Amino acid sequence: MLSDKSRPVIQATLPVVGAHIQEIAQCFYRHLFTTHPELLNGTFNRGNQADGNQQQALAGAVAAFATALVNTPDHLPENLLARIAQKHASLGIQPEQYQIVHNNLMAAIAEVLGDAVTPDIAAAWDEVYWLMAYTLIHVERGLYSARGVRPQTVWRQWEVEKKIQEADDVMTFVVKRIDDHLVKPSLPGQYITVQVPLPDGTRQPRQYSLSRADQGESRQFTVKRVYGAVGKPDGEVSTLLHTRVNVGDKLSISVPFGALVLDDYSGRPMVFISAGIGITPMAGMLSHLATAGSHLPIMLLHADHNENEFALRGQIRDDIAALPNASIYVWYEQGAESQLPVQGVFPGKMDLSQVRLPDNAVYHLCGPVPFMQEIRSALIKLGIRPRDIQYEVFGPDLWQADYEKARGPARAVCWTARRPTGMVRHSTRASAGSVSTPSATPAR
Ligand SMILES: Cc1cc2nc3c(=O)[nH]c(=O)nc-3n(C[C@H](O)[C@H](O)[C@H](O)COP(=O)(O)OP(=O)(O)OC[C@H]3O[C@@H](n4cnc5c(N)ncnc54)[C@H](O)[C@@H]3O)c2cc1C
Ligand code: HEM
Repeated sequence: MLSDKSRPVIQATLPVVGAHIQEIAQCFYRHLFTTHPELLNGTFNRGNQADGNQQQALAGAVAAFATALVNTPDHLPENLLARIAQKHASLGIQPEQYQIVHNNLMAAIAEVLGDAVTPDIAAAWDEVYWLMAYTLIHVERGLYSARGVRPQTVWRQWEVEKKIQEADDVMTFVVKRIDDHLVKPSLPGQYITVQVPLPDGTRQPRQYSLSRADQGESRQFTVKRVYGAVGKPDGEVSTLLHTRVNVGDKLSISVPFGALVLDDYSGRPMVFISAGIGITPMAGMLSHLATAGSHLPIMLLHADHNENEFALRGQIRDDIAALPNASIYVWYEQGAESQLPVQGVFPGKMDLSQVRLPDNAVYHLCGPVPFMQEIRSALIKLGIRPRDIQYEVFGPDLWQADYEKARGPARAVCWTARRPTGMVRHSTRASAGSVSTPSATPAR
């Protein structure tokens, strides 16, 4: 809870901070990497820095949290916090590092907003920061403890046992344990972070969903090679994994984390909806269900360019066959033909009106954000409750923060550059204009 002293200050300054939050986030990361360059070696994803997604995610999260503190203090954005904490845990973020982030964030606020930041305003935002930080530290401590690790020990060495070409641009890696530590079991839907050494001597982390239930001492993940759009470089880590990492090579991989976890104890029908490489967590969850001998009604709806690009289709075919109440429907942009034992194959984009969805189901979505937005809206139109729709985004989640912010009192606190009474901004650095809220960008 915000103190009575800070509450009105935050309420009054939310609009102007909100209007400049992206600029603050950019300035923050500039400061952070200047003072702590080591964070770009193994901790932060420089692809997400380059395309601005991480700056947007941070800005959106702080904005959503501050808005909730003021307007709905009894309903803080739990899903958003859970997702951040899981990501932090998968990177071994330590409680002590919150002081470093604090110092750089407060410096960025002061730099962007200039003299407008009076000591009272600085103190109120300091309080917001620590409320959020302690919430995250607390959740992260629980995550580490549940896994029996410390931030420093989330990483383990694994050896590549198999490299399987799934489709032209998609490769599956099966890795096996090579140290004495027990393999921490993954929950269905979770991901690992892989830390890869790059030719320039630094290490880069990337998350990959586990695409199969753990097989004793092995884990499996599946990587789509990212090609750069015009004028942009190819994806660093996916390219390297495809072209340089081979059987016998060692990889540093975190224990599994992730908030999108299948709840098969509910006994409710499960519907998995994916597009393209978004199939990976679905394949992982199906594999868990098949391994557990589930009798639940299960439906997989998948969209792809064509069947050759449908990654993991052999494994999925076998798992669907092993599940007594499972069905599969596919949509292909390039022709409605399938060699798989599917219940339905359709041309073009996924259209939910072409299938009969089970009653009282739980939905899991993964794919490009515009695809998920469209499907989620269609499901809600069909009367599905938002809480029954879970999703995974393959990048910093710009959608959740946006959604949380909009859901709350953004009605009451307007995220535009309306200067609050009593707050005069002297800095010439902060430019006025309406805030650009974190918009959905395609998952890669
Ligand atoms: C929870 C989670 C689960 C995931 N699961 C999977 C999975 O199962 N399978 C999978 O394939 N992926 C998955 N991902 C995505 C994966 O983590 C990587 O983001 C993906 O492999 C791309 O990484 P990369 O290093 O190849 O690309 P990056 O180097 O990070 O590049 C990403 C994009 O940024 C652009 N870019 C990079 N540098 C610049 C620059 N300087 N200027 C302009 N543009 C630039 C690139 O052109 C590219 O389009 C997951 C992500 C998350 C968060
Ligand atoms: C209150 C403080 C913090 C907030 C609000 C915050 C917020 C966020 C958010 C919103 C994300 C994106 C999550 C996602 O959707 O994937 C994220 C990721 C991340 N955070 Fe934090 N964070 C905080 C503290 C820290 C600290 C102390 C560190 C340690 C240096 C840290 C390091 C990271 C890293 C490395 C990532 C992944 C970045 C990427 O993959 O590009 N964060 N954080």
